[in-house]
Amino acid sequence: MPAKILIVEDDLESLKLIGLMLQNRGYQIIAAQNGPQALSKAVNESPDLVLLDVMMPGMDGYEVARRLRADARTASLPIIMLTARGQVTDKVAGFEAGADEYLVKPVHPAELVTRIEALLARSARLGPPVHVPRGKSIGFLGCKGGVGTSTLAVNLGVALIRGPASGKRAILIDIRTGSSTLALQMGLRPQRGLQVLAERDPAGLTADTILTHADRHATGMLVLGGLPEPSGVVPSFTPTHAEALVRALAGELDYVLIDMGTGLEEVNRTLLRFLHYVVVVVEPTRLGLLLAQGLLGMLDTLEVGRHRQGVALVNRAPTSMTPGKDTVEEFLGREIIGIIPPAPELAFQAAERGVPMVMLQPESVVAVQFNHLAQYIASR
Ligand SMILES: Nc1ncnc2c1ncn2[C@@H]1O[C@H](COP(=O)(O)OP(=O)(O)OP(=O)(O)O)[C@@H](O)[C@H]1O
Ligand SMILES: [Mg+2]
Repeated sequence: MPAKILIVEDDLESLKLIGLMLQNRGYQIIAAQNGPQALSKAVNESPDLVLLDVMMPGMDGYEVARRLRADARTASLPIIMLTARGQVTDKVAGFEAGADEYLVKPVHPAELVTRIEALLARSARLGPPVHVPRGKSIGFLGCKGGVGTSTLAVNLGVALIRGPASGKRAILIDIRTGSSTLALQMGLRPQRGLQVLAERDPAGLTADTILTHADRHATGMLVLGGLPEPSGVVPSFTPTHAEALVRALAGELDYVLIDMGTGLEEVNRTLLRFLHYVVVVVEPTRLGLLLAQGLLGMLDTLEVGRHRQGVALVNRAPTSMTPGKDTVEEFLGREIIGIIPPAPELAFQAAERGVPMVMLQPESVVAVQFNHLAQYIASR
C-alpha cells in the first residue's frame, strides 16, 4: 500500500505543487489548509507522515506539531516541517515543537522524497507505538562523570514534588546498580533493592513488586537508589531489566525520573528509545561543550527526536568566562532548558548533610533555578 501523506499548507499553489509531485511518485495524498483541519485529518485519516507548513494564519505549524505530539493517537506520527524560515532559532523551535525533520523552502523534490522515505523507514523500524503510559519518564544523562547529573536529578525531583507535581506519585531511580550516590544525596541509606531486582526475571517486574523495594523520602518522593559499591562488583541491570522496570513504573506513577549517569551503553540506549524526555547535563566549558556536541550528535543518530531532548547547563565553579545562553544554543543547536548557577558551598553542605540543595536553602538562586526547571518539565 502506498504511504499516505498529509500535506498541511495554507497556500493553495504550493499545496497543489507538492501534492502533485508526491502523487506522481506514488504516494497517497490528503491535504489540510489550516491547523484545525490538519489535526482532525491526522486523527481521522491515519496518515503515515505529515508535511507541515509553519507559517499559517490562525494556528501555526509549531502549534499543530505540539498538539499532534500531545495527543496519544498522533504522538508518534512522523512530522516534517517545511518552512521559509531557516534561522537556527526557527529550527530549534520546530524541533522543540515536535518535528522530526526540518526543511527550508524551496526544497528540491529529490531531497523531499529522500527525507520522506528515510522518516517512513525509521518509523517502520520502530514499529507501531506501544501502549501509552500514564506517567512521564524523564532521563538525566551527563556528558561526562562528575558534572552534577545526580545533583540535578535529585534537586529537580524534589522541586517537582514540592511544586508543580505536589500530590503526584514520583520515583527517582539510579539505573546503575553500583557507584551510586542518589540515596546518599537524599539522606537515605544505600539500598539493595535494585540489586535484588536485577537478579529477578524481568518478565516478573510489575510496579507492585518494584515498589516494595523503594524507599520513601520525607518529601514523598519514592527512591530506588543503587549501592555505593563500585559498579562492576554488584550485578548490573540488563537492558531488558531496565526497560521492564521503567515501563512498569511509568504505567503506574506520574513521574519516573532516571539518573542515567553517563555514556551510551546498551541500557541507556534502550531507555532512550522510549523515554518521554531526556535532560542532557552539560558543563558549559570548552571541553564540556565539545563532549556535549558529540553526545547530542549521537542522540540524533539514535533517533531520539529533538522534541524529546533538552540541555541543562550546570556551572559548578564560579567564573566570569561562562559563555552565554544564546552562544551555547547556537553551538549545540538545542534548547537550553535550565541554567544552574555555581553554589559550591551549598552543594558541599547538601552532600554532607544528605539534604538536597532546594530543601537546605529554598530561597537560594540555585533553588530558584531548579524550581524553574521543574515548572518547565511539568509543563511539557
Ligand atoms: N551547582 C553546583 N555548584 C557547585 N557544585 C555542584 C553543583 N552541582 C553539583 N555540584 C557538586 O559537583 C559534584 C558532582 O556532583 P554529582 O555527584 O551530582 O555529579 P554526577 O555527574 O552525578 O557524578 P557521577 O559521575 O559520579 O555520577 C558534587 O560534589 C556536587 O556537590
Ligand atoms: Mg551521579
